[in-house]
Amino acid sequence: MKRVYLDYAATTPLDERVLEAMLPYFRQVFGNPSSVHFYGQQAENAVEEARERIAALIGAHPQEIVFTSGGSEADNLALRGVARARREMVGARRILTARVEHAAVARTAQALEREEGFQVEWLEVDAFGIVHPETVKQALGPDVALVSVMYANNEIGSINPIAEIAALCRAQGVPFHTDAVQAAAYLPIDVQALGVDLLSLGAHKFYGPKGVGALYVRQGTPLWPVQTGGGQEAGRRAGTHNVPYIVGMARALELAVEERESRRAWVQSLRQRVIEGVLERIPQARLTGHPLYRLPNHASFVFKGVDGNLLLQLLDAAGFACSSGSACKSGQPEPSEVLLACGLEREWAGGSLRVTLGAPTTAEEVEAFLDVLPRCVEQARALQGEQVR
Ligand SMILES: Cc1ncc(COP(=O)(O)O)c(C=O)c1O
Repeated sequence: MKRVYLDYAATTPLDERVLEAMLPYFRQVFGNPSSVHFYGQQAENAVEEARERIAALIGAHPQEIVFTSGGSEADNLALRGVARARREMVGARRILTARVEHAAVARTAQALEREEGFQVEWLEVDAFGIVHPETVKQALGPDVALVSVMYANNEIGSINPIAEIAALCRAQGVPFHTDAVQAAAYLPIDVQALGVDLLSLGAHKFYGPKGVGALYVRQGTPLWPVQTGGGQEAGRRAGTHNVPYIVGMARALELAVEERESRRAWVQSLRQRVIEGVLERIPQARLTGHPLYRLPNHASFVFKGVDGNLLLQLLDAAGFACSSGSACKSGQPEPSEVLLACGLEREWAGGSLRVTLGAPTTAEEVEAFLDVLPRCVEQARALQGEQVR
């Protein structure tokens, strides 16, 4: 059976060119970047060059980049690191974040509330999952430790007005973090234009390796380390650097920026075909997320009266790999909190499907998917009906 991967928001395959760039750093250049000798200096040079390249690509200074083990760790460092520092410095205890954040932000905020006495205020979103600047404005105040609103949503693809929200936070002197883990593959990441103080990246969403990411931290932003130990990353994140992965991340981001327009154009036209085909062929189907302000490779739907996980299994059996909500939630039948936050009724929200395309996706794959999906939805509805009876 031919298998078709339509889950590029969950992860992407490593680009050959990225692998090529990484390979020497597994064997020939194997030193510890913290060592003073030749081997260490060679490795340190590679890390520092990667830092410079990433900084230049996002409009930052090299010392504003902190390498992490991925998007989740970058989010954790931003929230925990800034919240704790701001409480110590100015007594700020409130954290503002959106109802639709990835678990890496949402669960971290919850943990800070439960374990450390912070108070989380969940910013409401509109029916497309977008946070309106006005909502942030109303909740802001000097007692806010930090605001975190994602750039683009992993589950429904919607893009938030980050620059406007960042400007409001700046006016009040409150640090603003954005999770750009999904956005980086397709949207411009310029921390000066966006005006953000902290920004999370994860390499495996843009054809880089899994297990490496970065947090941009604007100079002067108060941040306590979360992982303590050695003095790596100017004391902000302890641990021997993952040199090949850091080199790979820099190369992957470079390619993502260089090829952004061609990649966007390719996936966007195929994605439009997915949206039109699904809405045309499946009764009781709706697009989730914003129809225009959404990631170009991202299509997401709900089907009334369908168990999203069952649908995933049927699609998988037919050779198609998709996702229901975010990948981390698959296997959990509860309707997604993101869709509930958008105001969807439970009978709709439980039947979500995310179809995300990538550079290797072909028009033939999209057509094959559109041919198979109606039967799978029908089967899922029939099976669900039987269970109810
Ligand atoms: C929006 C968002 N934030 C954070 C993460 C976590 O990133 P990582 O897998 O690199 O830890 C993901 C991954 O799915 C994501 O989509």
